[in-house]
Amino acid sequence: MRTKVTVIGAGNVGATTAQRLAERGYADVVLVDIVDGLPQGKALDMYEASPVIGVDSCITGATDYGPTAGSDIVVITSGVARKPGMSRDDLLQINMGIVDSVTRAAIAESSDATIVVVSNPLDAMCHVAFDVAAEAGIPSSRVVGMAGILDTARYRSFLAEATNISVEDINAFVLGGHGDTMVPLASYTTAAGIPITKLLPQDQLDTIIQRTRDGGAEIVNLLKTGSAFYAPSAAVAQMVDSIALDKRRILPCAALLNGEYGVNGLFIGVPVILGANGIEQILEISLTDEEQAQLKHSADAVQGLVDDMARLSQNNGG
Ligand code: NAI
Ligand code: 2OP
Repeated sequence: MRTKVTVIGAGNVGATTAQRLAERGYADVVLVDIVDGLPQGKALDMYEASPVIGVDSCITGATDYGPTAGSDIVVITSGVARKPGMSRDDLLQINMGIVDSVTRAAIAESSDATIVVVSNPLDAMCHVAFDVAAEAGIPSSRVVGMAGILDTARYRSFLAEATNISVEDINAFVLGGHGDTMVPLASYTTAAGIPITKLLPQDQLDTIIQRTRDGGAEIVNLLKTGSAFYAPSAAVAQMVDSIALDKRRILPCAALLNGEYGVNGLFIGVPVILGANGIEQILEISLTDEEQAQLKHSADAVQGLVDDMARLSQNNGG
């Protein structure tokens, strides 16, 4: 039997993720959206490509959760983007509501699934999904957020371009929250084991680190409407591969920390081993004092979002 993956949200990230997974051939994919016809149409179009691609994956679309029953992995990409006139709180409140409701609906059909959260603001939405999952007895190891692989991929691409070395040989970690406070770790950045500081001057490295922090905005500014989805969907697919195929890859992902890195009760991007049980292990690597301080600053920003969500739910009587 093939692995079953549900992707919620048939927009840019969701549909591209579904396509990448279906084309790998090891999983059946169910694409879900609230817009009737959108997931069904995109799924049918993808399925009709399978004779050409040469895979037997089944890909279906739905606006209800019946067809998602028994999923091994649920990827949450549903949400709205911030529109002119919408405050940060408005966006947070809308996406909180969406992620809460889709997580509830998905878990009702697939109580053993590992949940991969993608919707923004990422670290906050991991908390929303986890709160629902915890009510259903799902452990925190089964709720994991995607951002670190994307941020690290951007950093690695820019470094490969600057050094004229293959992207495959650039190894790095970007930790922390998905936002301005993310923490690219220069001390773990190498080209085939050679410290990056031996290959690039500090000012060029600093410029690349800033470009990485602004990576999402750079794409938004170019696209004018919408945000990145090719690199994000590649990152999600890498996480799904590691879980579904029990690859136990070490990947930077948002995980609920319980004292690791001096952080308690917050989802933050850290290196984890991803396998059949979701987060198999959180790896605590040694950081320089400056990196540790930056991670603390990033955790404070995530805490700010969690506090905002608590205030918004209280205002709503929730
Ligand atoms: P999009 O607007 O193209 O797609 C979102 C989809 O969600 C739409 O098709 C919409 O109909 C659907 N949706 C809304 N409410 C729903 C509900 N209750 N149930 C089911 N579907 C629902 O947006 P895109 O580009 O696909 O991005 C999706 C999310 O992922 C956004 O929040 C975005 O900010 C986030 N994102 C996160 C990244 C990360 O690194 N964590 C990277 C890229 C995007
Ligand atoms: C990104 O980093 C929008 O979070 C998204 O591209």
